Amino acid sequence: MSKIIALDTELTFSENELIVSRTDTAGRIQYCNQVFIKISGYNEKELLGRPHNIIRHPHMPRCIYKMMWDRISSGKEIFAYVRNLCKGGQYYWVFAHITPTFNGNGQIIGYHSNRRKPKKEAIAVIKQIYEQLLIEERKHSNRKESIDCSTRLLMDILSKEGKSYDEFILSI
Ligand SMILES: Cc1cc2nc3c(=O)[nH]c(=O)nc-3n(C[C@H](O)[C@H](O)[C@H](O)COP(=O)(O)O)c2cc1C
Repeated sequence: MSKIIALDTELTFSENELIVSRTDTAGRIQYCNQVFIKISGYNEKELLGRPHNIIRHPHMPRCIYKMMWDRISSGKEIFAYVRNLCKGGQYYWVFAHITPTFNGNGQIIGYHSNRRKPKKEAIAVIKQIYEQLLIEERKHSNRKESIDCSTRLLMDILSKEGKSYDEFILSI
């Protein structure tokens, strides 16, 4: 698939809409709803079976996904603001809830995400933080070092706020 050029064009969706997807344990898309299809610009065939990073935006800090995977693979849920990339290069912000799905034996058999339209004020706060995290990540050519440093920066920002990640995310 050819590389998508990220445009400075934002797409939005309605407050009454939910963007839904479900993945296997490796993050490959198993299900997505019509709202996901409509806003991403892909058709269902292009999405099913593909890794969820098909909509990864280059302006998203790596440390956010690292934190997300650490959480969900250890059986916990997470809320996060995510900027996603459409097939046509546009972007859209979401407030995502991502959670594991368990079988009867308590084993993780996949993951599920519901996303709502985020508040403008929350995005203004998050944008500023993600920009700082990205600048930090770009200082390091080594992937692990880059994620470690931006994670530390995120923890510093949160500690100045006097809040845990969860408290902060739910407060903005
Ligand atoms: C249920 C679920 C939903 C996800 N939703 C998104 C999403 O909306 N956008 C996104 O970029 N990554 C999403 N991810 C994370 C991707 O799997 C991936 O970790 C991320 O895009 C970073 O990709 P990279 O590691 O190739 O940089 C989701 C993962 C899961 C398990």
